[in-house]
Parts: sequence; C-alpha cells; structure tokens
Amino acid sequence: MYIDVHCHLTGEEYQAVGGVDEVLHRARENGVKIVICSGFDLDSSKNSAGIAEKYDNVYFCAGFHPSELKKYKEGDLEEIEKLCAHEKCVAVGEIGLDYHFDDNPEPAFQRELFVRQLVLADRVGLPVVLHSRDAAQETLEILKANQHLLKKGGLMHCYSYSPEMMRDFAALGLCFSFGGTSTFKNAKKTQECAQLVPAPCILSETDCPYLTPTPYRGVFPNEPKNVKHVVENLAALRNENEEELAKRILQNAKTLFFKLK
Ligand code: NI
Repeated sequence: MYIDVHCHLTGEEYQAVGGVDEVLHRARENGVKIVICSGFDLDSSKNSAGIAEKYDNVYFCAGFHPSELKKYKEGDLEEIEKLCAHEKCVAVGEIGLDYHFDDNPEPAFQRELFVRQLVLADRVGLPVVLHSRDAAQETLEILKANQHLLKKGGLMHCYSYSPEMMRDFAALGLCFSFGGTSTFKNAKKTQECAQLVPAPCILSETDCPYLTPTPYRGVFPNEPKNVKHVVENLAALRNENEEELAKRILQNAKTLFFKLK
C-alpha cells in the first residue's frame, strides 16, 4: 500500500490520459491508498478541495507557492484559511521560497507571504508543506526564527539540499519526502539523503505532473501510480524490505497529516 503525499491533479495535462478519474483509478490499481493533492495558489487550492470532495482517498493542501505569488491578491489568504477548515484539508502548502528563476517574485515579498502562511498554519492548527529551491539557508533561518509556529510539524517536499542541511531541518522536527528525482542516476546527493533520513521522517511523493520516476523518466504527465517506483528505489537505497518501508511511510504520513483516515 502506497501513499503519494504531494501531487498536483488540477492541471489540464491529464485530459490527454483519460482525466483525473482514470488517473486515480490507475493509482488504486497500483496499490496507492491515499493521494494528497496540493494547491499552489487560491484557484488550485479550491480545485484540489473539489477533487478531494469527489474521491474518498484524496485529501488536499491549501496554500500559495512562492513562484505563484504574482497572482496573489489581498484577501486570498483569508480564502485559504477558510479552506483549511475543510475536513479533508491536511496541511497548509505548498509554501516557502523559490529563488531559482530571475523573474520569480521579489524575495522580500516571498519571505513576507511565507511567514504569514506559517502564522496561518499555526492559527488553524495544521502542519505545513514546504517548497524550497535555491534558498536553503534563508528557508532554514526563517523556520528557525519561527519555530514556535511549527507545533504541528511540517514536510520538506521533494527534498533536494545537502545531507548536512537535512540535519538542521530535521532538528526543527520536519519530515522529508522524496519523489522521481531520487530515482535518477545522477542524483547522488538526494540519494544520500534518502539513505540517511531517519525512518520516522521519510515520506514518498510524485509531485506529478512533472519529474516522472525511472523507469518512466521523461514520460509526461507523471501520475500518482508511479509512486511505487519511488518507494521501490528508496527501499533499495536503504537496503530495506519494500513492503515494510511502504507500511512505515503510510504510518509516517498519518502521524504528520493527522486528518488522514
Ligand atoms: Ni508541488
């Protein structure tokens, strides 16, 4: 039994492969028990809630991704907060910092909305799902300075920084999820992290529609059914029994995302 703790099912790319209905059917056929669909702005958060309402085994996160903040309008966070009260909203996310592209929103604005969403998560009593790209040090500093807002814990999704940084993030009580990237031959650093991450903190994801894992690397769109290839590879990297690891991951997810049933 597998869980995909972070994916995006609200895009149009799934129309070409039978739509969300078929995608979730294939996931179930491949042993995926639970799927967490993540919002990245207000519309996608609302649409993720819609998918969660339609399918028993789908839950969702609501939040503003740092790269999507150009769309942010005053009042959007209040709308996100309303979504957090939904019985199937398991976390505030994905939120964080992304300095990868030059035309990404201003760092100061990203930092402001990151902290405001940490405050929001604490107020509604939910964990956070964190996105951080090319901003390791600043992400760590903001989280350290706001550790009192992380009482419900959090997840560094698609973890891509160093094993050394992982220790610092883990010291804040955070979990780490690994996706398709951890199956790529050249991803030595990520694989080292997947080997080192303590058993109670490891989770699996696809972050679909992108980053399809080996052996389907390059196929678009990626979808939740492929999470089993991620877990297979994690088990091999950690020299663990795959079934045991899958069970452990499901248990870890239920501990962090306590609204999962
Ligand atoms: Ni994502």
